[in-house]
Amino acid sequence: MNDFSEKGDSTPGTLIDPSNRILDYLRVSITDRCNLNCTYCLPLSGQTKQDHHHILRYEEILRLIRIFRDLGISKIRITGGEPLIRKGVLPFIAKLHQIKGIKDLAMTTNGLLLLNHLDEIRSAGIRRLNISLDSLNPETYRRITGHDVFQTVWEGILAAEKMGFHPIKINVVALRGINDHELTEMAKLSLAHPFHIRFIEYMPIGDSALHSENPLFAQEIQEQIESLGKLYPVDREKTDGPARRFRFQQAKGEIGFISPISRHFCNTCNRLRLTADGSLRTCLLSDLQTDLKTPLRSGFSDRQITGLIREAIRLKPTSHNLNTGHPAVISGRMSSIGG
Ligand code: 5AD
Repeated sequence: MNDFSEKGDSTPGTLIDPSNRILDYLRVSITDRCNLNCTYCLPLSGQTKQDHHHILRYEEILRLIRIFRDLGISKIRITGGEPLIRKGVLPFIAKLHQIKGIKDLAMTTNGLLLLNHLDEIRSAGIRRLNISLDSLNPETYRRITGHDVFQTVWEGILAAEKMGFHPIKINVVALRGINDHELTEMAKLSLAHPFHIRFIEYMPIGDSALHSENPLFAQEIQEQIESLGKLYPVDREKTDGPARRFRFQQAKGEIGFISPISRHFCNTCNRLRLTADGSLRTCLLSDLQTDLKTPLRSGFSDRQITGLIREAIRLKPTSHNLNTGHPAVISGRMSSIGG
């Protein structure tokens, strides 16, 4: 199919929003479906799956990514739902890997299907994996995810380490009363493994049951895990995301804190998100979105779609309005936005 072939060799531009932020990072959710049911991600009503025809086809995603590339996007992350459950995902990623100008290609997964797919993931061009793992205790893991599969995920993570994926970032959503007693144990993983353990503040998105009067913020987590020893700041690199990075002395890995609520990083936000059903979201924590699927399917040219994207970016919120004093709720679904 010629939609899959690389067209031309246009020189990418630089995408700058009205707040002077350079946007070079696009997170692409390729499915709203998941093989886990994490409490912090799913709405109370449970998973509702969109019909296949509402979900962008791979050729459509590739076309959009080329358009974004021409605008200045050079970093792509594939997310879901769970990306590895979508049929054909690895051949799709291999095509994506061939798109000139995409310098960084990563994936976020819950790790459940890693074991059998690592070879293919590597040959498709992915080196960097973010894996969601909110507990090291199989029972707590089951409580959070709804599935008794901790061991499979853990073996997948160890196999990925053995195969040389680097960095392997472990995402831990910190949940008061659920996994808060074992965050130090999770931080310890960074001593013996080269993992980046990233503690993420829970974001109140959708109607999840977890909205709390007493949320757990990064500072409290940091104080808790510093019982293990002093944390030394790691120098920031240009390609760093929002994590504040630290390391224990002699540790193989790192600790990161992502604090979207207590210490938001909107002023350095370089991200755009494409939802599984083809909408562009310029801010995770705002319901503002632009439908790109309908124009795509009604014959809009690349130039016209570029115009829609530029208009959406013109309206990218300067900052989200969630903060410690005003817990608000975003109605979008994390499982379709992709975190
Ligand atoms: N709050 C914080 N992080 C979340 N994630 C998903 N839902 C939430 C939420 N409500 C993160 C998880 C997962 C990634 C895809 O998104 O860390 O690893």
